[in-house]
Amino acid sequence: MVPFRAKVLAYRQGMRALKLAAAILPFPKPTLLTGPDSSLQLCDTIEQFGFKRVLIVTDSVLTKIGLINPIQQQLSGNHIESFIYDGVIPDPGFDQVYQGLEELTHYRCDCILAIGGGSSIDCAKLISALANNSQDLDKLGGFFKIRAECIPLFAIPTTAGTGSEVSIGAVVSNPHTHKKMMVVDLKLTPIAAAIDGKIMIGVPPSITAATGMDALTHAIEAYISRNATKETDRYALAATRLIFKNLKAAYDDGHNIEARQNMALASCYAGLAFTKASLGYTHAIAHRFGERYQIPHGLANAIALPHILEFSKDATEKRLSELALYCNIGASGSDETKATIFIAKIRELISSLEISAKLPELEAKDIPNIAKEALEEAHFNFPVPKYMDTRQCEYVISSMLDRC
Ligand SMILES: [Fe+2]
Repeated sequence: MVPFRAKVLAYRQGMRALKLAAAILPFPKPTLLTGPDSSLQLCDTIEQFGFKRVLIVTDSVLTKIGLINPIQQQLSGNHIESFIYDGVIPDPGFDQVYQGLEELTHYRCDCILAIGGGSSIDCAKLISALANNSQDLDKLGGFFKIRAECIPLFAIPTTAGTGSEVSIGAVVSNPHTHKKMMVVDLKLTPIAAAIDGKIMIGVPPSITAATGMDALTHAIEAYISRNATKETDRYALAATRLIFKNLKAAYDDGHNIEARQNMALASCYAGLAFTKASLGYTHAIAHRFGERYQIPHGLANAIALPHILEFSKDATEKRLSELALYCNIGASGSDETKATIFIAKIRELISSLEISAKLPELEAKDIPNIAKEALEEAHFNFPVPKYMDTRQCEYVISSMLDRC
């Protein structure tokens, strides 16, 4: 059996290759329109780029509440025909992608506009990937497997969380394996996106809380990643501070436009940070909670994040203390003290958002498999600051048991 230390060396080498790729590859950055009503401006941008027929990819809740109407009117005012595919469901699977692709082909659209949370944007990314490609969707899992150019994609996020509007990744549920499949490719990046806090006014508090915690996890995991760079640090620091200042305010008062706009920006910055620096164990465990118990992604991250930060604290206390300083949390004391205070503040924030610190659905008998699958994902994808073996991972997950 290969000793754990030798395995870690191999994992680190793989992650160094990823860092090199991130430094060399020409990561596209979408044009960002920001501010209230920038979603309407984005419709003008679509016209400026010469597109005539848009497939709007969204979910039925947003069409029912009329959120799409002003956007369609703005497109129509720009002499652009728009068609709606609103079959996206939370954690979409292959069916939703293929249905959207059929609509795209049927209406002969020349671009896609994704409107919604991460599920809609990710689904739209994969529809765009298959539009000019004869590859099967289940062959696209992993890094840089999309052969042909994607059909142009625009995005209007309606939640402040995933950062999918600026990332090179998309997640889809694979019906064959019942696992979440990650597709990572530079070609998936939208051309332009609107960071419009006003469009997020109607998001319920519980979703505001969960998606905001997803963004916070992106920022922190990117900052403590071994693949962090000066560029990703800037985005991660800005995102973390914005979230500490604005998430509770947006949760308390959904009509607080300033807080909504700042959270929309924070989510975008966190997306820019993790798309190059990558993520960590929190996401690897949260993905398992999503697959096994259908726990919303942001909620799963919120539960796992403090536990993972505690585990890796001795390896990350300097980085956590920098985050604490930047956010004006625990400005005095040693790095260890500041890191401890920072983790305590995260727990405080989670509690103030009425998110449980434990996972009632988690069963002790499931922990070995959850740990095994989480480590498989993390060790081949995420440049974590401190590696854990199976026993340590099982122990960390067991601390999330409700009865613990
Ligand atoms: Fe996430």
